[in-house]
Amino acid sequence: MASIERTLVLVKPDGVRRGLVGEVIRRIETKGYEISELKLIVPTRELFATHYAEHEGKPFFEPLLEFMLSGPSVAIIAQGNRVIEGFRKLAGTTDPTVAEPGTIRGDLARDQGTKVVQNIVHGSDSVESANREIAIFFPELNSKGH
Ligand code: RTP
Ligand code: MG
Repeated sequence: MASIERTLVLVKPDGVRRGLVGEVIRRIETKGYEISELKLIVPTRELFATHYAEHEGKPFFEPLLEFMLSGPSVAIIAQGNRVIEGFRKLAGTTDPTVAEPGTIRGDLARDQGTKVVQNIVHGSDSVESANREIAIFFPELNSKGH
């Protein structure tokens, strides 16, 4: 039974600065997922405080916001069967030191000793998160994505 999903991918400021937008898109497309929306995001504190609201109060929250405000991100909606779990697998685990080689974070990021790990991409972790995050970054789309 097919379960066509949409997920919100962000190429974070470190990925944009390092010229890795194309590489992230290549990995999404060669896996067979479809890019259905894409835009450059000029960051505001409000936007990323909302996006990362689940982490409010944690020690890394302020450094995380500072990092996300350090430059533009690219927001992408990727679509496909089980894409939410599939993209999280492509991204690799949060800590780039232990992210498996072969993943985006495992191949392209490392712990640089900054206050918060810079790990190139974000991917939604559930259908509920994906719907919430898509509405944050693509408020012009309706709930069916049109
Ligand atoms: P994301 O939400 O960005 O896709 O990352 P994730 O699910 O793999 O990790 P999450 O726990 O949601 O954390 C969000 C981002 O916060 C930074 N972080 N630093 N202990 C730490 O120093 C720590 N924990 C999280 C990372 O940039 C992580 O991607
Ligand atoms: Mg997360």
